[in-house]
Amino acid sequence: MTILVTGGAGYIGSHTCVELIAAGHSPVVIDNFCNASAESVKRVEKITGKKIKLYEGDVRDAKLLDRIFSENKIDSVIHFAGLKAVGESCAKPIEYYDNNLVGTLVLLDSMRRHGCKKIVFSSSATVYGTPERLPLDEECKTGGTTNPYGTSKYFQEIMLRDVFASDNEWTVVLLRYFNPVGAHESGTIGEDPKGIPNNLTPYIAKVAIGELKEVGVFGDDYDTPDGTGVRDYIHVVDLAKGHVAAIEKTSASGVYTYNLGTGIGYSVLDVIHAFEKACGRKLPYSIKPRRAGDIAACYADAGKAKRELGWEAKLGIDEMCASLWKWQTQNPKGYNS
Ligand code: NAD
Ligand code: UD1
Repeated sequence: MTILVTGGAGYIGSHTCVELIAAGHSPVVIDNFCNASAESVKRVEKITGKKIKLYEGDVRDAKLLDRIFSENKIDSVIHFAGLKAVGESCAKPIEYYDNNLVGTLVLLDSMRRHGCKKIVFSSSATVYGTPERLPLDEECKTGGTTNPYGTSKYFQEIMLRDVFASDNEWTVVLLRYFNPVGAHESGTIGEDPKGIPNNLTPYIAKVAIGELKEVGVFGDDYDTPDGTGVRDYIHVVDLAKGHVAAIEKTSASGVYTYNLGTGIGYSVLDVIHAFEKACGRKLPYSIKPRRAGDIAACYADAGKAKRELGWEAKLGIDEMCASLWKWQTQNPKGYNS
């Protein structure tokens, strides 16, 4: 299949292109490089030995999308392009809603014009807000999001459902990612956050390499086994394979919703200790106050994806940390190394 991958130069998009090519598909990438560089696409080409058709531009540019759909026979779309930093979204809600909501609307309109009616969408466990119960299954209530980023994901899910309700020829796959971490085993593609990382594992990696002094553990008084926050970390390569399964296994039209996680929750201290094993030394950390907006625990019931897509995560926390460490040591300054 020829698959338009929006945001295909980004962290999850680049790993997904590798797995799509490995499965015999042809990704066509559009990215405006607002949070990525063309270097990641070059590296995907090196890993796979295949050339990728790359369009530099914005998903809000209807003319460019029309050109892409005219120049390629696109069978389906995987829509990663979007802004994703929670804190930044609170400071720049207009930019976030514009990029994420308008981007999706312009894309859907162009898809409709060109008769391409299959989309896999990057959603997030954040749509569950404060978990109603754990583990989170797809029937748990959504909404109650606490920041514009999360709300944009929630709105986009609703928009996509409404599109299907209006035209039952569409196939809409909503993939709710838990916490994607790690990197490709080659160590040549990975997550390349700008500035000081907000998320836990890139922060730990920068401490391990000596760029940051110590890990701040945001709270040790949660109702969890060791008092620190618990999350469902999923290896980005497993996540990427989940997209291939989603594209291949959803042949009938409809709306499909899947959690992509491992079903296992690890605490902040578990992750620090797993990373110590990967880098071979003790890592300094100290307990800090809770971070505003954080929840105690969040992990998936990943059973539906296994039953219906035949997909399940295979890689554990040690592989996640080892691959991130390889990426970090081989590329201390990310793609600018
Ligand atoms: P990323 O920032 O690495 O990738 C997003 C890509 O989209 C970047 O390459 C960026 O340059 C591009 N982009 C952004 N806006 C664009 C636009 N208007 N037009 C064209 N390109 C644009 O982020 P990621 O971690 O790979 O996330 C991919 C998707 O998955 C996002 O939608 C994100 O919200 C979602 N998601 C990510 C996580 C996570 O923890 N990484 C968790 C849940 C959901
Ligand atoms: C965050 C976002 C979420 C997004 C996800 C993936 C928030 C509130 N949520 O999830 O919407 O989908 O990233 O990008 O930002 N922690 C520390 N020290 C640190 C960093 C984090 O102790 O320096 C802790 C956090 O309190 C949390 C865990 O580590 O318990 C994971 O944090 P993080 O990696 O930021 O992911 P989430 O908060 O789960």
